[in-house]
Amino acid sequence: MTLGVESNVLKVEKKRAEPAYFSAHDIHAYYGESYIVQGVSFNVHEGEILALLGRNGAGKTSTLRAIARLDSPMLVKGEVWLDHQPLHTMKAWQAAQVGMQLVPEDRSIIQGLTVEENLQLAQIEKPIGWSIERIYELFPRLGERRKQEGTTLSGGEQQMLAIGRALARDIKLLLLDEPYEGLAPVIVQEIEKTLHLIREQGITTIIVEQNAIAALKLADRAVILDTGSVVFDGTAQEVLENEQLRHDYLAI
Ligand SMILES: Nc1ncnc2c1ncn2[C@@H]1O[C@H](COP(=O)(O)OP(=O)(O)O)[C@@H](O)[C@H]1O
Ligand SMILES: [Mg+2]
Repeated sequence: MTLGVESNVLKVEKKRAEPAYFSAHDIHAYYGESYIVQGVSFNVHEGEILALLGRNGAGKTSTLRAIARLDSPMLVKGEVWLDHQPLHTMKAWQAAQVGMQLVPEDRSIIQGLTVEENLQLAQIEKPIGWSIERIYELFPRLGERRKQEGTTLSGGEQQMLAIGRALARDIKLLLLDEPYEGLAPVIVQEIEKTLHLIREQGITTIIVEQNAIAALKLADRAVILDTGSVVFDGTAQEVLENEQLRHDYLAI
């Protein structure tokens, strides 16, 4: 009898020692006294696109920033694992070296630099990812505007540059915060196509989007946040088919 119980315990421990490809485990984040992310956990499989959804203020950006170790001005607790590496023990630049890049909502194109210089700057630190020519193949518009100052590009082109800059590093996980914000539907479609191509290269993506329908069409799985907690974790298809869920948490 005793032996049986012990071997069960061993089995449980073994399971925990083999984390998912990407795993956010029991993430908590505070802005001063405000308790914003309240114990968020989810996994992402290698090569998958996960949509992280929820209403405005649900804690999506805070969760992405906590994952990317961009904790200032937050206080963050919890574990983040990527490809067996404990990112929660690292600084943001070390997590980036392991292969995680966040494309922030404001796109953060560097002023005074051309498109090409923005990409070159991303490649100053090793490990280097896609070549600049390969990024231009993915986004021909960037190639055409390589000598233009990055901040003078259209919104859609700036988003392409921000994604291109992430690919210029050797990444495993791409974190996108509202990439479609303010873009015309035809540009959204163009970016969607490139996100499919990026997945075909084996890169895993977490996409936060207010345009939930577009994100769900792209994604394999979805996690929905509400007031800093996970209220749904399942397939994108399940969300598309569940009117109640969409009404209650996504207002669509
Ligand atoms: N720098 C900050 N200081 C204090 N509170 C913040 C800060 N940034 C965001 N918040 C608060 O945290 C909550 C979650 O915000 P956020 O993570 O941006 O949500 P989402 O991206 O889902 O819209 C909101 O109530 C917001 O007001
Ligand atoms: Mg946000």
